[in-house]
Amino acid sequence: MANAGAGSHFLLFPTSVTPSACPAASLSRNEHGRRRRSAMLCRAGGLDRRDVLAGLSLTGVAAGGLNLAAESSGTDVCLRGDKIMDLRLSCHPSGSSPCPSPPPSPFSIVNFKPPTGPVRVRQPAHLADAGLVDKYKLALARMRALPDSDPRSFASQAAIHQAYCDGHYQYQMPVRPLPGGGMPPMPMPPPSAFDVHFSWIFAPWHRMYIYFYERILGSLIGDDAFALPYWNWDAPSGMVLPEMFKDPASPLYDANRDPTHVDAYVVLDYNKGGDVIPFDPVAVQQHRYNKVVKDNLATLYNQAEGARCFLGERFCTSLKVNQKSGTAGTLESKAHTGVHIWLGDSSKCTTGYDGVQYCDNDMGFLGTAGRDPAFYSHHANVDRMWHIWADELGHRGFEDPEWLDTSFVFYDETPRPVRVRVRDVLDVAALGYRYEEREPLQWLDCRPTSRRAPKDTTTGTGGGAARAARTPAPVFPLRLRVGRNVVVPSVRRPTRNATKKGELQVLVFDAVEFDPCRDAKFDVVINVAPEVAGGVTPQWVEYAGSFVSIQRGGAKPGETIVVMVQLPVEDVFDDIGVVGDVDAVNVVLVPRTEGITILSPPTIVSQEC
Ligand code: C2O
Repeated sequence: MANAGAGSHFLLFPTSVTPSACPAASLSRNEHGRRRRSAMLCRAGGLDRRDVLAGLSLTGVAAGGLNLAAESSGTDVCLRGDKIMDLRLSCHPSGSSPCPSPPPSPFSIVNFKPPTGPVRVRQPAHLADAGLVDKYKLALARMRALPDSDPRSFASQAAIHQAYCDGHYQYQMPVRPLPGGGMPPMPMPPPSAFDVHFSWIFAPWHRMYIYFYERILGSLIGDDAFALPYWNWDAPSGMVLPEMFKDPASPLYDANRDPTHVDAYVVLDYNKGGDVIPFDPVAVQQHRYNKVVKDNLATLYNQAEGARCFLGERFCTSLKVNQKSGTAGTLESKAHTGVHIWLGDSSKCTTGYDGVQYCDNDMGFLGTAGRDPAFYSHHANVDRMWHIWADELGHRGFEDPEWLDTSFVFYDETPRPVRVRVRDVLDVAALGYRYEEREPLQWLDCRPTSRRAPKDTTTGTGGGAARAARTPAPVFPLRLRVGRNVVVPSVRRPTRNATKKGELQVLVFDAVEFDPCRDAKFDVVINVAPEVAGGVTPQWVEYAGSFVSIQRGGAKPGETIVVMVQLPVEDVFDDIGVVGDVDAVNVVLVPRTEGITILSPPTIVSQEC
């Protein structure tokens, strides 16, 4: 294993009979070469990846202090953001989709105070002891037995997620003086749809949400140390739905899951269709294991960027073009979204708030995802990924008060409405919980190593240049079609000395248009012939990233949205050997779903990411 030196710190599990999907060579490469993506942060006072591997102990990762810096400058497409304040949000019920219980009055809301009491230790769900599983079953049975009107009930908890993502919540922008002075004419602009996904709100909002969910469960069984098990899908032995969720007689069960996926290796970079590999670490053939596990580990490796790329862009309240959505970070758009879509059942559908039919229930549609108990353990792991990113890898979040003072109201276990701000939830230790680490973080060293294209396919040298010259440039707006990979030839990239300290080269699609009621995905690879580009998955060096969106509610039928997509590519260039004066690359688009239009050609810029 790549972290053999640290092996003695970890338990070895039966599943480790299958060797690490990451070749040991990747570590020695890292020792001498540039450490992909983490390099900047490691130097800036963070930890070396191997220190992290060696320093993690069975008792869990220590939580560091608040790591803040890296101002978000927003993006060019966002003209204005706002501090999202709970009092400016209002929920509008419709049909069978209730809003979560509102606070009885604004005066009944208390401000969040850090908890006292024992530390809650969140364990990996697949290794959880029977005692924890029994406690969780009892707590959830009691939560399910509460009347729906009780804000602590499972129905209410699930409704929180639905309401915050499918158009129930609306946001009233504050009125600001006009640039030349004076106030804008009345009436005020109508409230706009609000969503906790697809922006820098994603990570803190979900941390708050499962924090209260966990405390409510604990209080229902009188256990103030009760801790939510996390779905450890980043460890090879945890890459399957944990057993505790599979018993049809258990309150942890949900019937709306893809039956062909519940016992298979989860695919973190999920493209619908494809190989389903039964989860059997002993019997699985080595090449199939390598395929799925290596891609999963590489997907996670590729998530670790700076704040704007990892946590997402600011919540934008006024965009340049007709856009109503922001830019998700990799924490949200990669493994997180992959697992949602993977677990949902395409034959289970509901009609959303907007009258549109959504399938892939429960997990594959944000409106129903909170109805599956596995959702909360999935999000505990997403939360853990954020914790590792901040406190172990030393990345820094945003200093912008627009983020730090964003506030929401949740009911606690008493139950009473509590106002909690982003700045309240940046440190898990202060929130009274920690994550127990039981296995090495293999993905930290899973830099992609496989190469698809021969070295001379860069545009500047050899056959690649000739091929680029023969490839007609596509016309934008460009409608993507599955099965028709598109080459955007000779996309210029900034020279090295145009890249300032702290910046990375980022491939930017200014405007990607799609139907928010459907899943959307395309992959991007660099300098590969279009005929073979479809086989370039995250474990290949030419893979630059993906745009992924999960179906959400709240749009009017037929309405599309436009978002900006940014993919850090600097290390891809290093890995494929685009260096020196070779200043352009072929960007190959691999559509994975129908219904996406790219409005303008991609560019490569230097920016913080
Ligand atoms: Cu609110 Cu995993 O989504």
